[in-house]
Amino acid sequence: MMHLLEVAPLPAPYVRSLLDRAFHFKETGKYPSYPETSVATLFYEPSTRTRCSFQLAANRLAMPILNIDFSNSSEFKGETSLDTVKTLIAMGINILVVRHAVSGQIHQMAMDCCLGENVHLINAGDGINAHPTQALLDLMTILEAKPNLKQLKVAIVGDIRHSRVANSLQCIFAKLKLGKLSLISPSLWRPDEIFYGDWTDSLEEGLAGADVVMALRVQNERLGPGEELDLGQYILKYAITMKSLSFAKPDVLVMHPGPINRGIEINSDVVDGPRSLIWKQINNGVFMRMAILEAIMRGHH
Ligand code: NCD
Repeated sequence: MMHLLEVAPLPAPYVRSLLDRAFHFKETGKYPSYPETSVATLFYEPSTRTRCSFQLAANRLAMPILNIDFSNSSEFKGETSLDTVKTLIAMGINILVVRHAVSGQIHQMAMDCCLGENVHLINAGDGINAHPTQALLDLMTILEAKPNLKQLKVAIVGDIRHSRVANSLQCIFAKLKLGKLSLISPSLWRPDEIFYGDWTDSLEEGLAGADVVMALRVQNERLGPGEELDLGQYILKYAITMKSLSFAKPDVLVMHPGPINRGIEINSDVVDGPRSLIWKQINNGVFMRMAILEAIMRGHH
């Protein structure tokens, strides 16, 4: 793989080898060193877990890493983001981890920047399009808890329409053949396109028989005109609470990509309760991003 921009082009065996490698790092605690590979994170949108977990992952692999603080970068002086990327490449950066608010912008950088074969881009979330590394760490977390993917039902609840996480998850679930996927949202947040799974506006119907429920953040900053919902109504009908979880299987597990709005899309007692995989997702994210950095650096096919 030259770049990691989307889940779709990844062959299923490549996804499995990333999972194996991530589990191996987690189980052994032994990590190789790649001091020749330098990494930069370039985030045009706020992030805590994605950026920090890439930083930790690079540190554990002894890859030097720069964190470009956008608020202090030259783009405030009028430099274009393509020129920022070219500048970092000229300094010898090999892997650029990029987050951008505009869908497709990172793909554009990959096409426009004359990257050369030793430079690789990783999409850390572009607009409402894709978030492949999140989907991979979520898949790792599900398989660790419930390995028989073909037998599972997963439900994703919330603003599916504007969720790059939901898009990439649909893609990875289709590839690895998840049993059943239910996409639950108010009709206003129904996605235009569904790659995999069935959509419903009923939480009760969507959660019926679910083994895993993933709640999504109410993403106010991504809503267009006319897409705003009454938050009180949303909470009443769609919040993940101990009560609404009773629609799912008794051993249902709960996930959330973060950042969490406690008391809105999910209640605190669920976040911190025994069914929650939320902190495991964050923990696994570092191991999965180590596997991704290593694989991308090697340019494996
Ligand atoms: C998500 C993102 O930024 O796409 N968070 C994450 O990376 N863990 C989800 C969100 O913004 O709600």
